[in-house]
Amino acid sequence: MAKTDEELIGRTDVNDLEAILSITNKDVDALTHVIRAEQDALFTWDYDRSRDVLGKLYEKGKNSQWNGETDLDWSIEVDQEKVVLANAEQNAMGGGALAGLAPDMDLAGTPFAKFGDKEWIQLGVESQNWTLSQFLHGEQGALICTAQIVETVPWIDAKYYAATQVMDEARHVEVFAKYLNEKLSGMYPVNAHLRMLLDDIIADSRWDMTYLGMQIMVEGLALAAFGFIHTLTTEPLLKKLLRYVMADEARHVAFGVLSLKEYYAELSSKEMRERQEFAFEAAVRMRDRFLQQEVWDRMGLPTKEVVKLMVDLPERQFFQAMLFSKIVPNCKKLGLLDASDGWLRERFTEIGVIQFEDWVDTGEEYESLDEVAKDREAAAAS
Ligand SMILES: [Fe+2]
Ligand SMILES: [Fe+2]
Repeated sequence: MAKTDEELIGRTDVNDLEAILSITNKDVDALTHVIRAEQDALFTWDYDRSRDVLGKLYEKGKNSQWNGETDLDWSIEVDQEKVVLANAEQNAMGGGALAGLAPDMDLAGTPFAKFGDKEWIQLGVESQNWTLSQFLHGEQGALICTAQIVETVPWIDAKYYAATQVMDEARHVEVFAKYLNEKLSGMYPVNAHLRMLLDDIIADSRWDMTYLGMQIMVEGLALAAFGFIHTLTTEPLLKKLLRYVMADEARHVAFGVLSLKEYYAELSSKEMRERQEFAFEAAVRMRDRFLQQEVWDRMGLPTKEVVKLMVDLPERQFFQAMLFSKIVPNCKKLGLLDASDGWLRERFTEIGVIQFEDWVDTGEEYESLDEVAKDREAAAAS
């Protein structure tokens, strides 16, 4: 039986703001979070290297390791307020630096009516703290999920590759935590919607669901978001950090696409429908988290009122849709859009992201995004 929206996402209307904002973390002071995982750990005695595309990816994974301690210049000083202003100035369409921070609308009668320079800059700082904190927590999710894949995936080439990804994710957690601690001004707890999604991925006993949730959905979104921020930021340390992390993420998403393509070709339509539903649930959770409700709370603003205002802003809708620019073509490549009479295509249309279906998928993009190899070649040539 196909699930209802109520069963899938806990509400009947995807855009029900009250329901979205009612989900918050009650245990923000806890130092650990425990999730029961029920997967089978699987040995294979078939050591034949039969999957060339994964073998190639594994070689790339081994060769393109970098060291967060020595390949990034941590001596770069970061003045967060100056960076917020410089970013806004670079990205504003005119009208001075602050125009890039404030939404382009009449703010009279809104919670922002009394905002001056100081408040807009503070909002920029908090947004950055929040954004990088959620990336950090998501990276730890990737570390745990990929360690699970090493255990659960039945193919030796995939176990080898996943092992290199575990190392990549450790490095990502390490560099984001260090950047937050040393260069920014405060860490946020994990967003409740993001945590629900990570919990669902980790708890699912089917090995391919780990891939779908993490490599296709979470990392697909991360790849697009990192690209967006990499383009927008003027801060050189973060720029290089993101450039290197993205090179790894492109491989990770390719790992998902290449593995699931083989596996999904054999699934029944009922099984495909379950994967479609999981992809939709993940998409909604990620969309919900980007309302960044914790930032409005911390700024002392009326969260509901602000969020109602934000969801209608064209620049926000553009940003939110862009986050799905990698996910949708990858879902198409895996046959997820069109299975079950196009059920997921319809849902992606409903949440306004279907326009990306024919963008480039991430099966091979990792080769052109190998920034570590490019830097090494440049260094060797000079
Ligand atoms: Fe990562
Ligand atoms: Fe990753």
